[in-house]
Amino acid sequence: MSIDLTRINEAARALVSGQLVAFPTETVYGLGADAVNEEAVSRIYSVKGRPSSHPLIVHCSSLDAAFKWAGDFPEFAKRLAEEFWPGPMALVLQKSALAGGFITGGQDTVAVRVPSHPVALALLADFESLGGAGVAAPSANRFGKVSPTSASAVQEELGDFLEAEDFILDGGSSDVGIESTIIDCTGSAPRLLRLGAITASMVERATGLKLITDGQAIRVSGSHKSHYSPEAKVLLGAEASPGDGFLALVDCETPTGAVRLASPKNTEEFARVLYQALRKADSLALARVVVIPPAGDEISLAILDRLQRASY
Ligand code: TXA
Ligand code: MG
Repeated sequence: MSIDLTRINEAARALVSGQLVAFPTETVYGLGADAVNEEAVSRIYSVKGRPSSHPLIVHCSSLDAAFKWAGDFPEFAKRLAEEFWPGPMALVLQKSALAGGFITGGQDTVAVRVPSHPVALALLADFESLGGAGVAAPSANRFGKVSPTSASAVQEELGDFLEAEDFILDGGSSDVGIESTIIDCTGSAPRLLRLGAITASMVERATGLKLITDGQAIRVSGSHKSHYSPEAKVLLGAEASPGDGFLALVDCETPTGAVRLASPKNTEEFARVLYQALRKADSLALARVVVIPPAGDEISLAILDRLQRASY
């Protein structure tokens, strides 16, 4: 997909003037606002229909720009940033004075991420060259719904709620397909707050530290039991009846009369097409979707996590 630099620059200017810009990232599409503009950020919450106590991730084009949002950047967090940024990982750190309570949900920590999608990086670099410090961006879906992985899915979710001066940038289908791994770096070792494509063993390998797994209540909004939900009822590992949507790896045969939503070849592809398949079920007005979750590697755990929340 070719990149329209003029349009990206216009979108960066719209951010500066307080408008919202939905943009592609390698995980899912985000709904962005200037992270120091309280009024612009408050529009994110109203467009999403999201409670304002739920904090947002600040997106930057580089490690240096991201460092400015943190009061303290522990050594192991630096190692993670150097290893996995730009990429599908957000770090939770003690916040600096730059991070207002209106993006942190009133907490003294802030989440930051450097995404790898070329359109996201170009938008963030343009915005920073215009004096911007970072772009606050949740996934570009209505609260509790399935994250969008294409510009048309953003239009479907938010089209009715955006203003004419807001932007939706098109960067094709998101490569990873599920939201970033979130890692709390405010303790003595990393703690996983949300599973994603950067896996537990990747984090332990990069830092040389064992993850903290003390079962402390997870604070992220994606951790609400019900989340990522399509209209269709999601059933895990159930027997599919005729007329049900069906999603499974390619070697798993479609039950008689069921509607095949996708046939991913491996777990990475399963993650990539997951949300798109759930959307397809809704566009076909299917009442139920039976999913056979992949098993085996660590990305399967992130997929299973999303599916379990979608099934509540
Ligand atoms: O892949 C992603 O991370 C996407 C793309 C657009 O970057 N963004 C995304 O944002 O998934 P959102 O808002 O849908 O999910 C971010 C999660 C929320 O559950 C929020 O509660 C959590 O990050 N979060 C943000 N700041 C936090 C903080 N200071 N401490 C703990 N959790 C935080
Ligand atoms: Mg979200």
